[in-house]
Amino acid sequence: MAVRAESDGGGLASPMKVWDVITAGDVFVDLILGGFSAWPQPGEEVFATRFAREIGGGAAITGCGLARLEMRVSLLAIVGRDEEEWVRRRLMTYGVDTHLLIWHDEEPTAVTVSVSREDDRMLFTYMGANRAFPLWLAKESTWRELSAARHVHLACAPDPLVLIALSDFLHEQGTTLSLDVGWHPEWLRSSESRRALRALDLFFPNEREIFELTGERDPESALRALAKAGPAKIALKRGLAGAMLLWDGELLREGAYPAVPVDTTGAGDCFDAGFLYAWLLGASPERCLKIASICGALSTQRLGGVAAFPTREEIEEALRGNSTRGAEP
Ligand SMILES: Nc1ncnc2c1ncn2[C@@H]1O[C@H](COP(=O)(O)OP(=O)(O)OP(=O)(O)O)[C@@H](O)[C@H]1O
Ligand SMILES: [Mg+2]
Repeated sequence: MAVRAESDGGGLASPMKVWDVITAGDVFVDLILGGFSAWPQPGEEVFATRFAREIGGGAAITGCGLARLEMRVSLLAIVGRDEEEWVRRRLMTYGVDTHLLIWHDEEPTAVTVSVSREDDRMLFTYMGANRAFPLWLAKESTWRELSAARHVHLACAPDPLVLIALSDFLHEQGTTLSLDVGWHPEWLRSSESRRALRALDLFFPNEREIFELTGERDPESALRALAKAGPAKIALKRGLAGAMLLWDGELLREGAYPAVPVDTTGAGDCFDAGFLYAWLLGASPERCLKIASICGALSTQRLGGVAAFPTREEIEEALRGNSTRGAEP
């Protein structure tokens, strides 16, 4: 595998924890085309009226959101050498540290082309350099790098045995661990994966993912079934239906915060960022869920996953019920 890390990979974790959060896993270049009036037939061409090229993928979006909320964030991911300058610049714009990034000399950065109409969207994805990430996550030198954070958030489908070993290692170092696995049907259907979820401090599925994991078709039953077998703290994302939180047996519900969405790409990853920010500040489960929902909703107001992520002040305004952004396009 022709990849090279920028860091030495062997440094001992500081007991002081250099980072609040390291996000690790998938990074994409998102090409977002919008404003189509019709889908093309095979062989036809249609023209977008809106376009954005933005950094995407769960690890990048959650990292950018946390950095906007003034947390100290570093990103560990594998990116194509071809996009090095652009990726670095985008992340630095949002305040995310890039020294843990790994540059792949042969594979390009993963790409998603998102084509949206008002009523629906289509996604075309090439996984590129992200495919090398699971192997990288299995290395103990990577675990040592990750232990430099108070918290590690994974946005990928990790090998279940690696997840358990990593969790043990991080917990020994005083670092907590969360996961947003995303839509990986094979991973979600595996009983080994389900067992490994027990190793997490927090798990962030959406409805489709938790149904696939549990075989249930009702969100509350799915949460309860998963908690029995897996993690005790699960934040369940339900799009326009809002979110639910199962927290050590207690069930909380939160309606969707009002927003007129322009593009819902990455709303789930922004929800994760809001939740982790509040949790790391020691907020109550109710407040974590509220802040997460505000971040998810407000993030939909511009093209791309990160551009509309709110600031601390905007979150405070929304909590007071006088957001200037609430229901605006
Ligand atoms: N249109 C919307 N209006 C208001 N809030 C929304 C909207 N879409 C999403 N949200 C909020 O953001 C949260 C996360 O979104 P969603 O349920 O789409 O996550 P997801 O499926 O993990 O998304 P993705 O993986 O595409 O980022 C929801 O639980 C909800 O609180
Ligand atoms: Mg998601």
